[in-house]
Amino acid sequence: MKKLSYLVLFICTISSAQSILSPSKELQLSFSISKEGKPTYSVNFKNQPIVKESSLGIVLKDADDLVANFKIDSIGQKSVNETWQPVLGEQSNIKNNYNEMTAALSQPATGRRINIIFRVFDEGVAFRYEFPKQKNLNYFIISDEKTEFNLVGNHKAFWLPGDFDSQEYPYTESKLSEINTDNIDRNNGIGLKSISGKYIVQSPLMMKTAEGVYINIFEAAVVNYPVMHLDLVPEAYQFTSHLVPNAIGDKAYLHAPCVSPWRTIMVSDDAREIVSSKMIFNLNEPCKIEDTSFIKPMKFVGVWWEMHVGKSTWDYAGSQNAQNAADGQLKPSGKHGATTENTKYYVDFAAKHGFDGVLVEGWNTGWEDWFGNWKENVFDFVTPYPDYNLKEVNDYAKAKGVKMIMHHETSSSVANYERHLDRAFKLMKDYGYTAVKSGYVGRIIPRGEFHDGQTMVNHYNYVAQRAAENKIMVDSHESSRPTGYNRTYPNYVAAEAARGNEFNAWSVGNPPMHETILPFTRLLGGPMDYTPGIFEIKMSYYDKSKTEQVHTTLAKQLALYVTMYSPVQMAADLPENYERYADAFQFIKDVAVDWQDSKYLEAEPGDYLTVARKEKKGERWFLGAITDENARDTQVKLDFLSPNKKYKAVIYQDGKDADWKNNPKNYDIKTMEVTSKSKINLHLANGGGTAISFQPIN
Ligand code: NOJ
Ligand code: CA
Repeated sequence: MKKLSYLVLFICTISSAQSILSPSKELQLSFSISKEGKPTYSVNFKNQPIVKESSLGIVLKDADDLVANFKIDSIGQKSVNETWQPVLGEQSNIKNNYNEMTAALSQPATGRRINIIFRVFDEGVAFRYEFPKQKNLNYFIISDEKTEFNLVGNHKAFWLPGDFDSQEYPYTESKLSEINTDNIDRNNGIGLKSISGKYIVQSPLMMKTAEGVYINIFEAAVVNYPVMHLDLVPEAYQFTSHLVPNAIGDKAYLHAPCVSPWRTIMVSDDAREIVSSKMIFNLNEPCKIEDTSFIKPMKFVGVWWEMHVGKSTWDYAGSQNAQNAADGQLKPSGKHGATTENTKYYVDFAAKHGFDGVLVEGWNTGWEDWFGNWKENVFDFVTPYPDYNLKEVNDYAKAKGVKMIMHHETSSSVANYERHLDRAFKLMKDYGYTAVKSGYVGRIIPRGEFHDGQTMVNHYNYVAQRAAENKIMVDSHESSRPTGYNRTYPNYVAAEAARGNEFNAWSVGNPPMHETILPFTRLLGGPMDYTPGIFEIKMSYYDKSKTEQVHTTLAKQLALYVTMYSPVQMAADLPENYERYADAFQFIKDVAVDWQDSKYLEAEPGDYLTVARKEKKGERWFLGAITDENARDTQVKLDFLSPNKKYKAVIYQDGKDADWKNNPKNYDIKTMEVTSKSKINLHLANGGGTAISFQPIN
């Protein structure tokens, strides 16, 4: 049931500064027009400045800019307090409570009109540009957006270097004045590095002031518009929006009436308020899919990690085999992962342990020729390799009650993917697939556009819409980072769109603090397919010469199922590794992925996170606690449990000698009886974690 209360306060014609408060009255946004007619805003929290006077404006191509010479025509205010229910999510009910102010502006000289809409929530402010229908601003080209964020101090920041093609970097933690993106090495072997710019960083950008206030700059509802990166003037602590350009340097092609995405600034002196915020989703349009019954949470295994660790390959014939074979025919290399037989092994494993699905990568032709060759027509998304029998695999899975998950690596050959999309979805429907994992590795083909430009934003959203029409769920990798659009298209169930666990298999990897930052950045915009659950942590297990490893303890891999929210979660390691640690694997088998409620108990970006969640359909709770490279002892109150109930708690924790580097597989499992009055002491090793399941006894 949707509860909604609108209160229109007043509409009038004014020219002086205007301000609105959050429902709690702790956060204040002020808006005014400068002497030159420039729209400006500022933000205060508990009467302290957070954002100093900052300009707002849009630069048009071939027309007078929308940055100055404005007057205020009217100011309107209203309040909204409603509750809505996500199809899948961290909680069953999401509260959307804010005060809104719309400033209607016009430029007397040009007669052009824009509206700036401000919303103030308890945990942050948001604003967007609205371009009403009008005579002389019909079809227009944005060549720049001049939205400033003038901060008031040299805050600590967790930042990613600006790169219009990828977010797959580790975070750097530094003062704003120390941000310098020169010489950043992605160390992932892909080498996109498509832009340089000393002081461009990505959003969401998480910061903390010396006084302990948490600030996050991000955006919501990026639809038909490019992604916003941020230019920094380090000594002034001043950020300005940097929209991702298209192939010829334009930023966005728009038709009025239309809107920009929301620019968001979250502010709180309690980190838990930021990490649990649903503000980004609240700023997106409600669900546009009528029948959402096909959107289901999923736990899955897959023919996947074995390729990342080098045990098998995506391709059938071995790289370059196609070019080198005298007769042009592919010859099997013997290392192909996605064979009918191997897939059946995974299906058996999934069925035996109660998993919903099996992902298979490398099932289709093209993998000999994709990476490095970057041919446009390399994948057709429908032709299996000779050793992969689609029908046989799907019949087998169906008989065992397991769903197959489709894989579409596009190699960023996007026009090619769009040409094949209908046929690719038809094949999925023919065989009963309900979910696809897509991928956008490499620069966009044909060259020119960026992953984060308007064209590609529209592509990802278009695929989600077409998938919805076909009752298909999408989990995209290497797409632009989500900004809450899965409220509108909840079949867009997850994305990677950040540096995932896979980097630990073949690069310097992700430092232990990585997973303590992602919930404050990437996950604010939507679920992340991080692919947790790696038990064989050191790659020397597969090849003695390898030194790569996951920067984790085994217990932390379990905790990630709770701390890294996604309604589709992979048990990413190999079945045989799970068989060897069957007692720890039990947690992955048990853990829920769709939730009635979530309680963030402890949080500090870059340091630690503890969250407890109650399953959507049932009475079980699960807790995940993770730490960075520092060991941590903490006591957790279990007052989130239902009173008057007894629970059996199974605690999966780091062993006494656990340490992510020297002894990552050292873990203990203990069982105890607890109630809502109990407190539990947790010990997390360096790079460690704790996972707990709570099952009511009665
Ligand atoms: C990168 C994706 O993140 C990964 O999951 C996938 O296996 C490879 N691309 C190949 O598509
Ligand atoms: Ca990836």
